[in-house]
Amino acid sequence: MCGIVGYIGKRDALGILMDGLHRLEYRGYDSAGVAVVDGDLTVTRASGKIAELEKKVSQITHHGTTGIAHTRWATHGPPVEKNAHPHRDCSGRLAIVHNGIIENHAELRRDLQAKGHVISSETDSEILAHLIENEMKTQGDLSTALRFAVRRVRGTYGVAVVSMDEPGTICVARLGSPIVIGVGDGEMFVASDASAIMRYTTRVIYLDDGEMATLEAGNYRIRSLDNLPVAKEITEIEWSEEDVQKNGQPHFMLKEMLEQSEVLRNTMRGRLDADNGTAILGGLKDASERLRELDRITIVACGSAYYAGLVGKYMLEEYAGISVTVELASEFRYRKPVLTNTTAVIAVSQSGETADTLAAVKEAKMKGILTLGIVNTVGSTIARETDFGVYNHAGPEIGVASTKAFISQCVVFALLTLFLGRQRQLSLVMGKRIVEELKRLPELVDRILDGRELVRDVAEKYSDVTSMIFLGRKYCSPIAYEGALKLKEITYIHAEGYAAGEMKHGPIALVCPELPSVVLCPKDSVYEKTKSNIEELRARGGKIIAVTTEENDEVHEFAEDVIEIPKTLEMLTPILAVIPLQFFSYYTSVKKGIDPDKPRNLAKSVTVE
Ligand code: M6R
Repeated sequence: MCGIVGYIGKRDALGILMDGLHRLEYRGYDSAGVAVVDGDLTVTRASGKIAELEKKVSQITHHGTTGIAHTRWATHGPPVEKNAHPHRDCSGRLAIVHNGIIENHAELRRDLQAKGHVISSETDSEILAHLIENEMKTQGDLSTALRFAVRRVRGTYGVAVVSMDEPGTICVARLGSPIVIGVGDGEMFVASDASAIMRYTTRVIYLDDGEMATLEAGNYRIRSLDNLPVAKEITEIEWSEEDVQKNGQPHFMLKEMLEQSEVLRNTMRGRLDADNGTAILGGLKDASERLRELDRITIVACGSAYYAGLVGKYMLEEYAGISVTVELASEFRYRKPVLTNTTAVIAVSQSGETADTLAAVKEAKMKGILTLGIVNTVGSTIARETDFGVYNHAGPEIGVASTKAFISQCVVFALLTLFLGRQRQLSLVMGKRIVEELKRLPELVDRILDGRELVRDVAEKYSDVTSMIFLGRKYCSPIAYEGALKLKEITYIHAEGYAAGEMKHGPIALVCPELPSVVLCPKDSVYEKTKSNIEELRARGGKIIAVTTEENDEVHEFAEDVIEIPKTLEMLTPILAVIPLQFFSYYTSVKKGIDPDKPRNLAKSVTVE
């Protein structure tokens, strides 16, 4: 959601902070601000995108070597300047930036106001500045004051604080919202996401929940919130600077869609065992015997990752013979799931920081259930919290709309299906066949990427519609949901995704000539059924955009527009079928003049409930 960046060292902090903010803008872009300590404490804030802050910052003449900055995704209070971070205390001597939600903010606000504090924003975050100010009176130093202040908070935080009284220090603390420390040469960095600082250092330390750190130019100390010293390892970031650039494309989303064949190669690299018709998943090696005992899997995820989970369910049930339920993580955590010791919970998350998914993992762990992660971001919280896992190796995904991560998640499920299937009922012959088809996938993806101009023409033809339906059956029903989600997210066109067989149970009442339907109708085991559903739509004047497999000539008889994808195994078809839908939304968004990388009201990583 929001993004934090901080710097302490020998260089001009402002330039580094602004650069970090630009890299974090995909996390939230309602408003932004920066605080620099230079004998004084200068706070500059602006509503809107980072460019607005940039204009103000260009007027600043005095610079310091310690500072913190923030880009906001509003939760409490509208995205106006007074609600932008950094927030100051009453004295104006300290400033904080905060990610997360302070749940007891109203109660704390009343208490602070009764003590005479003047709270000038509508945010929950500003409360922290005043709590620290209070504690400074008795505790004396910033780190202790922060430790005592966060003890009063119920909720989640990733927080960084600077003070004029300790100009050579940044203090940070974490509970439920990521904080990563960058270790430089005589300088230290802090961020909510390593992409903000990887240009300066690739040596990072991920704070865990309940930890805090005091950073000085050439030094850091990490302690628990109980004030015990904590020894942490320094991790080397694998992603390169290039990975987080647009590489000449107008948008991250386009760049990421165009990377998809390479992404699949990376996801599968070294993991296909053609001789044994299985997958080699290093992250599951030590869990192998426990996995053999499983008779049930519960997949927990949100948004697109949830739809990838639905694709996984179809694969695992058909080829591994394991019963699978897929749950929205936000629901799982608040009901009373019945889980046995032969159940595994699989959390799927691109960012590895989604609050609801993380909470579902914690819930499962608390019940003693085996947890696995399918996570893209190395070192992220979900990756570290789960017992075992498989990384996607899709590279950083910056575009708010998930594309390459989604197809990579589906491929990881295919790998898991091979692995668990070969432990069970999957024959060597079928295992080998799946491996062969997986190997072909990148080349088939390339063919779809090459045909994207045709999808652009179709998208532009329909860009003025106000509503759309997406339909698919079996393996393609999750792709219908995903297609509708993509369209909503980046074009603001109302879209509904349905399993095609559901239409006649209600939604067909919507169908009329003004409501086109995108129907996924590859020549698979349910093709004839989907064709009947198409006829039902046509009988009511509905226009059809068909996504079908190559050499299906008859589809032209009942579809206004046809988009072809190459043939592959039915279980792998969703991985190909989703790509034209991604391009469809992307080109519609561009045609409507919307920035697909920064759609309104959204943020890349949803670290609040
Ligand atoms: O980082 P995660 O995969 O856990 O994120 C889950 C969802 O927030 C995410 O997929 C979201 O729905 C995307 N914006 C979809 O394009």
